[in-house]
Amino acid sequence: AVLRSAVPLPPAFQVPLPIPPVVSGAAIEIVQREVTAEILPGVPTRLWTYGGTFPGPTIESRRGQAVTVAHRNELPVPTVVHLHGGRTPAESDGYPTDLVLPAGWGHMNHGMHDPRAVTSEVTRSYTFPLDQRPTMLWYHDHRMDFTAPAIWRGLAGMHIVRDPNEESLGLPSRELPLMIADRAFATDGSLAYPSIDPALQSQPGVQEPYFAGVLGDVILVNGAPWPVHEVDGARYRLRILNASNARHYDLEAVLDDGRRLDLVQIGADQGLLRTPVVHRNLPIAPAERYDVIVDFAEVPIGSRVRIMNRLGSGRTREVMAFSVVRKAADSSRIPEVLSDDLPQWQRSEAVRVRDFSFRAGQMGDGHGWLIGGQPFAPDRTDVSTRLGDVEIWRLVADVHHPVHLHLVGFRVLSRGGRAPLPHDAGLKDTVSLRPGESAEIITRFDGYRGRYLFHCHNAEHEDMGMMANLEIT
Ligand code: C2O
Ligand code: CU
Repeated sequence: AVLRSAVPLPPAFQVPLPIPPVVSGAAIEIVQREVTAEILPGVPTRLWTYGGTFPGPTIESRRGQAVTVAHRNELPVPTVVHLHGGRTPAESDGYPTDLVLPAGWGHMNHGMHDPRAVTSEVTRSYTFPLDQRPTMLWYHDHRMDFTAPAIWRGLAGMHIVRDPNEESLGLPSRELPLMIADRAFATDGSLAYPSIDPALQSQPGVQEPYFAGVLGDVILVNGAPWPVHEVDGARYRLRILNASNARHYDLEAVLDDGRRLDLVQIGADQGLLRTPVVHRNLPIAPAERYDVIVDFAEVPIGSRVRIMNRLGSGRTREVMAFSVVRKAADSSRIPEVLSDDLPQWQRSEAVRVRDFSFRAGQMGDGHGWLIGGQPFAPDRTDVSTRLGDVEIWRLVADVHHPVHLHLVGFRVLSRGGRAPLPHDAGLKDTVSLRPGESAEIITRFDGYRGRYLFHCHNAEHEDMGMMANLEIT
C-alpha cells in the first residue's frame, strides 16, 4: 500500500539536487543523530542521520586500503551498521543483534527487544578492508526487526571504492551519486512510518495494510523531492542506488520532445561489466546499484532530460530532471572492454546446489515472510559452507523479492529457466526475483570465515522474517 503524505508537495524539478558531503581517509567518525532538515520546501522534518545529513556522507575509498569507521549512536534506539556489498570480516559486517547502544541509555539496558546483543558500546568501530572490485556500496542500518523504519527515517549513505585501473579507462569524470528513495510525510512534517511500535523498541513489524512493503508518494533523490540538476552537454557517469524500502523502479531518460536517451550500463552492484550494455530502460530493485553513462551532448541547450519511472503512476512516475545548460568539451570515453577480472565460475565447479523459496507464510501467531518455510532465527545456522566452495543457489519467489547475499558477489546463471536478462550482467550482490519467478545464481564463498546473512531486501520483508544465516567455515 502507498502511504499518502499529509503536507503539500512541491512541483517536480524545482528543488536542486543535493550532493552529500564526501569523506575519506583511513579513520572516519560518524555520529548518528537526530536533526531537523527541510526536505520539502518550508516543511521541517525530523530525521535520523549519519553525521547530520540524509543521505549520510559519501565515503570515498581506495581498493585495498582499509577504512575504520567509528559510529557513535546518539539516537534513541540501538543501531547496527552494515556496509552493503562490502567484503567485510564478520565482526564488522553488522550482524543484526550486534548493537551500537544509544549514548543516552547510559549503562542500562532498558527493555531492549533482543537480549542477545553481543556488544554494549555506544561507539563502535567497524573495519572495512575493501579488498574488492571498485564499485559503489552503501551503508545502512541493519538492526534485527527494525531495519525498515530506521532506513526510512534516514539511516543510509553511499560508499564509493575506486582503483587506478578503473581510473585509467577514461570514463567520464562528471560523476553523480544518486540515491533514489520514496518517502511519505505526516502532518507534522515527519517521515511517517506505519510501525506497530512507533518507538521501535519492542514489537517489530508494520501495520497490516503495509505487510507487503511500505511505499511513499514522494520520490527523493539524494534526499530532495523530484530534484533538478544543471548539467553540461557532455557524458555523465551516474552511480544509481535504489535505497527504497520496497519500491521498484524502471528508469528511463526522456527528452522534452519525448525521445529517450540511451542508458549505457558500465557496472553492476559489484563493479564494472566486461563490456557496456545499452538499455532504453533499466529496472532497479531495492538495494541494487547501476553504474550508468548518459550522454547529454545531443540534447538542445536549455532543455531538460527527465528521469522517469515506468512502474510509477501519477507523481511516482517522475524521479528527477537534468537541465542541460551549456555546451562543453568532453574527452571522456566508454571503452569497449571495461574489465577482464570478472569471475567466470562454471556450473561444473559447483560442489553443491541449494534450493530456497521466498514466500509469505505463518510466523508465530501472525504472518510473515519466510525463506525455505522458516522465519529468521539468530541462533539457527541455515546454510553452512566451506570457505572457497563454489555453489549454485536456486531461488524461487511468490511475489517480488530482491535477494541479497552478504560478503560475496555472484553471477545470475538463469532466470525463469532462460538466459539472464540484460540488466543481470556482471557481478551482483542483489538479484531481483520477479513474482512467481525462479533464478539460479553462482558464487564462490571466499573472503572470510564467520556468520553472515542472506535476505530479501524489501526492508519490510526482511524485518518480518525473510532473512537467514550463512555460516562460512
Ligand atoms: Cu543492504 Cu543485509 O543488507
Ligand atoms: Cu521479499
